[in-house]
Amino acid sequence: MARATPRDISVTCDSAVETSSAAGRGPRHVAIIMDGNGRWATMRGRPRLFGHHAGAKRVREIVEACPDLGVKYLTIFAFSTENWKRTQVEVAGLMSLFRRYITRETRQLCDEGVRVRFIGDRVRLDAKLVSLMDTLELMTAQNDKVHLTIALNYGSRDEVARATKRLAEDVAQGRLDPKDVDEETLPKYLDTCVLPDPDLVIRTSGEARISNFLLWQSAYAEYEFVDTLWPDFTRAEFARLLDSYSARDRRFGAVTV
Ligand code: IPE
Ligand code: IPE
Ligand code: MG
Repeated sequence: MARATPRDISVTCDSAVETSSAAGRGPRHVAIIMDGNGRWATMRGRPRLFGHHAGAKRVREIVEACPDLGVKYLTIFAFSTENWKRTQVEVAGLMSLFRRYITRETRQLCDEGVRVRFIGDRVRLDAKLVSLMDTLELMTAQNDKVHLTIALNYGSRDEVARATKRLAEDVAQGRLDPKDVDEETLPKYLDTCVLPDPDLVIRTSGEARISNFLLWQSAYAEYEFVDTLWPDFTRAEFARLLDSYSARDRRFGAVTV
């Protein structure tokens, strides 16, 4: 399925975005920076790709846990715009893993009612992978149980730059008046335009940084940085982090009375 153009976006996005869950409840949208695959493999004396394969297997358990745990939207960081800096062997191995992952998981994701979307720039991805991504989006387009978004060749700065370019084109073509540009306008041009903002962002592997993930969208997200390497991340730990989120007081700049 082709990504919505900005023209579509002004229609689809206005109607599709829902607000975040109310304070005191579990997160409706969880985003995960799945980090630590390489270290997990190295600790076992295995090549880094062994860790990526183990990491891919973890995704299934977490997706399956979402309906029970009240998570409607799950967004996972699979490959960043900066990850092309890795060795050719690792990048090629990851691309092959993504192709195999999509092929292997398609039937089950369809049957489980998971709606899959991809965010990120597809231009640099190979045609076979893009075709598998398009097909998976199309085949799951009617599903609504869990909305799984996979960030692949995704970087927030790249996303904002691409969005700004399209916004500028709309201004140049007279479709958008600069006077009407406000903080509601730009998100309609982002890859995430149909998604609510993340309530909770989790990063595994002990690194306390964002690495160019959902910068605009996570302005008011809660964060959890855990030491667990992604291939060791379990449903039980996921549930514990959701519990801890529920106890947080999200104020959004206001004062709790
Ligand atoms: C995350 O694990 C997966 C990707 C970035 C593709 P890493 O590969 O970054 O694992 P570490 O951080 O080197 O352990
Ligand atoms: C972030 O992890 C990207 C993904 C998890 C896909 P990295 O391992 O690439 O991030 P840095 O390099 O440690 O910041
Ligand atoms: Mg890493």
